[in-house]
Amino acid sequence: MIIALTGTPGTGKTVIAACLREKGEYVVDLHQHIEEKGLKERFDKKRDTYSVDIGKLNSSLRSSIPKDRNAFLEGHLSHFLDCDMIIVVRCNPSVLHERLKKRNYAPQKISENVQAEALDVILCESIGSDAHVFEIDSTSCTPEQAVVMIREIIAGRTAGYEPGSVNWAEEMVKWC
Ligand SMILES: Nc1ncnc2c1ncn2[C@@H]1O[C@H](COP(=O)(O)OP(=O)(O)OP(=O)(O)O)[C@@H](O)[C@H]1O
Ligand SMILES: [Mg+2]
Repeated sequence: MIIALTGTPGTGKTVIAACLREKGEYVVDLHQHIEEKGLKERFDKKRDTYSVDIGKLNSSLRSSIPKDRNAFLEGHLSHFLDCDMIIVVRCNPSVLHERLKKRNYAPQKISENVQAEALDVILCESIGSDAHVFEIDSTSCTPEQAVVMIREIIAGRTAGYEPGSVNWAEEMVKWC
């Protein structure tokens, strides 16, 4: 199975991915893969980021991912890629705000990301795909606990992780 590990920047994908790797899982760091395979295209000045051709990224991943085991694709683009399952990592918007402030992001970039989290943007984008979609709340759990949740989902114990399990309705007034 190919499992996309996605979420708003700062929700904890990389920290959880590192823990998955430590526990022996096969994890592709999409940023690193894009860099190594020379898949960066036009620079988008407004967004301060590079665009990537999703088709080319999918073929590049297809040729490098082992077929005999589960593979995780980690990055905030991963839910747009060919995969069987999408796990959206969520974080309470107020906590996310603090995490992003520590990164010294510009105030506009912080509020854009915090609003996107409060409004379930990545979850909604994920639901548009053909893959099975689940979400985990990483706000107050350790990466090890997040790995336990991910393994439960993969084992089919999905109760409590369905889309809509995480609800930031009360946070929306504050950030949106
Ligand atoms: N469960 C957690 N509890 C406390 N702090 C956490 C937790 N998960 C992540 N953090 C902290 O939040 C910050 C962002 O985590 P991380 O870099 O894993 O996010 P990310 O989702 O990979 O972001 P990006 O999309 O920008 O790469 C880090 O400083 C990390 O230490
Ligand atoms: Mg990351």
